[in-house]
Amino acid sequence: MENSSAMTYLDHLGEYAMRYVRAGQTLGLGTGRAAAAFIRALGGSRIEVRGVPTSNASAELAQSLGIEVVELRDVHRIDIDFDGADEVDPRLNLIKGNGGAMVREKIVAAASRRRIILVGDEKLVKRLGAHGNLPVEVVPFAEAFVARRIRALGMKPKLRLDAAGGDFITDNHNIILDCGVKEIRSPRRLEDELLNIPGVVGTGLFVGMATTVLVASQDGKVATLRPKR
Ligand code: A5P
Repeated sequence: MENSSAMTYLDHLGEYAMRYVRAGQTLGLGTGRAAAAFIRALGGSRIEVRGVPTSNASAELAQSLGIEVVELRDVHRIDIDFDGADEVDPRLNLIKGNGGAMVREKIVAAASRRRIILVGDEKLVKRLGAHGNLPVEVVPFAEAFVARRIRALGMKPKLRLDAAGGDFITDNHNIILDCGVKEIRSPRRLEDELLNIPGVVGTGLFVGMATTVLVASQDGKVATLRPKR
């Protein structure tokens, strides 16, 4: 356990999530600040597990902490996936992808028996889209065509740029269109419409996937949400 006075609320959340971890498990390692807090807590715990990272950044972080990293192709199943999110609605549907890793995140989530999402309470929304952005990963060749189709669906796609002003390139060698959205009435229908556009690789919509959401508030409390199904 780290010195609690120096810990941020996300560090605390990462430590809190350790209660679900058992030696010998295979874990999905998400991407972003909350997932990184979990990976640091996992590394600090010295519990022997294997991790399937959802990005090169998370793979590097896990390896630097001595966590055994394996490829998805090398594991039969993943016990629990730990990841963050950008928005969480009351049904625990998610928007992810501000970090650009949502395609691998969704694959690892789908390959996992349980999916535990770590967020601060600022991520809770009444309806997905409330924060105004839905990331969509696109094959570069299809950029203009996909952007036109997305505009026809009523959203405003914008090519994501990296810090140097070039195209942001994902770990899968694709680009991201950040789509300006209003509140999304039917996340599942929008997901189907987007996936029907040739050139779309994946979206940041995670519908019906979260099995548990751990919500941290700045005062250090953690609430546990489960979907009502
Ligand atoms: C990475 O592509 C994302 O899906 C992240 O999991 C999401 O953006 C949450 O990130 P933070 O924990 O950094 O807010």
